[in-house]
Amino acid sequence: MRIIEVETYEELSEVGAQIIIQKVRKEPNSVLGLATGSTPIGLYEKLVHDYEQNGTSYQHVTTFNLDEYVGLDEGHEQSYRTYMNDHLFDQIDIDKQQTHIPKGDAPDLVAEAQYYEERIQHADGIDLQILGIGRNGHIGFNEPGTPFSSRTHIVDLTPSTREANQKFFGNLDLVPTKAISMGIATIMASKEILLLISGPAKAEAYQRLIHGKMEEQFPASILQLHPRVTVVVEKS
Ligand code: F6R
Repeated sequence: MRIIEVETYEELSEVGAQIIIQKVRKEPNSVLGLATGSTPIGLYEKLVHDYEQNGTSYQHVTTFNLDEYVGLDEGHEQSYRTYMNDHLFDQIDIDKQQTHIPKGDAPDLVAEAQYYEERIQHADGIDLQILGIGRNGHIGFNEPGTPFSSRTHIVDLTPSTREANQKFFGNLDLVPTKAISMGIATIMASKEILLLISGPAKAEAYQRLIHGKMEEQFPASILQLHPRVTVVVEKS
């Protein structure tokens, strides 16, 4: 695991963005795995800024997001499709047909999960996956106890994850109870992983990631086995 410690969120965003930008410049047809939540917002701002200033093109890039809430249609203001459009896709030259996010309102969610997995395989896998981490060690929406062998699947969100996301919905009752998420094995199959860890609320999770044992009760611990992980972490 390569660990890059930074002083500020600004720096974390810049370091993370540069890793993506260099990848896309070197391999313009890269397949990127994307995350949502608070942590990567600054990184996406930096990508947009770089696109405007330096013209890095995403025309040939394909993307797969980690997850989506079950029950929200694409146009819902809290859907991850809306998040991605607002923070990134609408502001760069990416072909929206090449951006993939699981459909949280699919009539058959199990079939959707399988189809998502197939589309990732069809794209030859993910070259570089961006991750955030939950306070409980979740990656994607793979909560503690998720089998390391899991592929894209439907998950029940834990109370702590729903509470953490309450800020986006305004009211806990409005936060969905389920999500469709890449599995741990799906994430581990990415050729390279960039994990961003920001803020004091994640300090304990970071310590456990680095020093803790590998166990399904702490999903991110599996990353210790991946050969190409970069962790960018804000010093706390
Ligand atoms: C988001 C995702 C989640 C978040 C994690 C951290 O697509 O899959 O694992 O990365 O919940 O969220 P923030 O960044 O809001 O603290």
